[in-house]
Amino acid sequence: MSPQWSELQQLAAQPFSLRQAFADDPKRARRYQLQACGISLDYSKNLINDQRWASLQALAKQSDILPLRQRMLAGEAINHTEQRSVGHMQLRLPDAAIKQLTDQALAADILRCRDRMTALVNQLHQGSYLGYTGKAITDLIWVGIGGSLLGPQMTCEALRPFSKSPVRIHFAGNIDGAVVSDICQDLDPETSLVVVASKSFGTEETRQNALSLRHWFTQSGADKKAIALHFWATSSNIEAAAEFGIQPEHILPMWDWVGGRYSIWSAIGLPLALQLGMAQFNAFLAGAHAMDQHFLEADLATSMPVTLALLGVLYINGMGCQSQALLPYNHYLRLLPSYVQQLDMESNGKQVDHQGNLLPYATAPVIWGDAGTNGQHAYHQLLHQSQQLIPADFILAAKPQHQQPDHQLRLAAHCFAQTQALMQGKTVAEATAECLQQGMTPQQAATLAPHKASPGNKPSNTLLLPELSPYYLGALIALYEHKVFCQGAIWQLNSFDQWGVELGKQLSGPIYQTLSKNEHPQFDSSTNQLIAIMRGHL
Ligand code: F6P
Repeated sequence: MSPQWSELQQLAAQPFSLRQAFADDPKRARRYQLQACGISLDYSKNLINDQRWASLQALAKQSDILPLRQRMLAGEAINHTEQRSVGHMQLRLPDAAIKQLTDQALAADILRCRDRMTALVNQLHQGSYLGYTGKAITDLIWVGIGGSLLGPQMTCEALRPFSKSPVRIHFAGNIDGAVVSDICQDLDPETSLVVVASKSFGTEETRQNALSLRHWFTQSGADKKAIALHFWATSSNIEAAAEFGIQPEHILPMWDWVGGRYSIWSAIGLPLALQLGMAQFNAFLAGAHAMDQHFLEADLATSMPVTLALLGVLYINGMGCQSQALLPYNHYLRLLPSYVQQLDMESNGKQVDHQGNLLPYATAPVIWGDAGTNGQHAYHQLLHQSQQLIPADFILAAKPQHQQPDHQLRLAAHCFAQTQALMQGKTVAEATAECLQQGMTPQQAATLAPHKASPGNKPSNTLLLPELSPYYLGALIALYEHKVFCQGAIWQLNSFDQWGVELGKQLSGPIYQTLSKNEHPQFDSSTNQLIAIMRGHL
């Protein structure tokens, strides 16, 4: 552990009152706020003072953030356990900048992919993509999981008000047959297009869902040729996709230098491009690119991703926090917590450093949350009054995408009030005074006051977007990507592999074999027993 870590831990152990900090410094909000790409970050309601902040800045300076960023930009294989470089930022460069890339073959590849996406989107918008019985395509079924699903699903939901597509979009991720069953029940294969989104083209859930959909086509009379017409893929495994029956002209590329959870900027963004049209999809890319520029150009002290990363490090490593709430006060952003869950937890949920040594500190937090104000009537109670310290990010878009009068200001008032309540809390004395004012006897007030009191001193960030447009959504996602990158650099781990998910995949194979062949189970006694009970119910 470097001296910065010990200093941070010592400072974090000292008493600190947010309420007092605001009372002492009327300029606190102005001192602890940042602007980037039109997004405002108010981080004044965090458990920081000048000393703690200086210590965090020192930690950032001596960390791997700048060298690792340099190595990423230079195309080095910083995902060293998979020998892959990390190039998703290139995917949101404007066309002109792509043409300037040193690797001209790569530049041509990216631009070709954009052109192919544009052509498909235009055909679908114009109704000129005809199915095997001559009818225009009305529905697109996107089959994928993890990074091949969460991005398209979350962004399509987030930008639903900007939709200009006559083609409806459906998502099939879970291997639970209910998902595909519901889709098949509602749609007609003659007017449906299936896109199998899998970088590896080997993920079991995706393969199974794709096979079931292919079977649905066959049952409706579609032959090989018809299936070839109705199936597309986005994959880096061309052979496997072709073997499945997808023609090479229908395979959009995925590159091994783009991780699944960083792939919304690639052809994995096709559903969003379809929903928005290419012009607005490009605005989405432009927002992310603007955040990249901020990340590359701002110094550490004024960098928004670095700031978010350092605050997270303070809570996780300085104060022992294990989770982080992500609370979008925006109905359309309600899938953002699931998206950031994968981004953060799959990237930084690691136990060893680059050399494979056990890390002497905790890393990624458990990310959770849902749209405000729903959470206020569920888990906010715990945020306010439990003894757990859970930092929260509140996200609000100022301008609404609806015309309902008065809703937006009420929504904003709740968002701001929550951060205020978490910060200042309510003392026992204040709760007692409130009870007395309501006409209670001193005895009644003394009994109730401890239950009504809130400790306060609970940290939060507020991210304020001008509106939830393609541009600002792109910037917001890139902001969280870079935050995760910075934390991974500080923790000295590989944020770009995900070996932990493999064991479960490996073990499910033999269990499936045993279940499907009705063999005698020879696993641990718990698994054997569960198999027996399940069989009893089938
Ligand atoms: O669950 C692990 C994972 O590899 C994710 O990282 C990835 O996004 C997802 O599976 C899907 O992978 P693929 O696109 O190869 O089907």
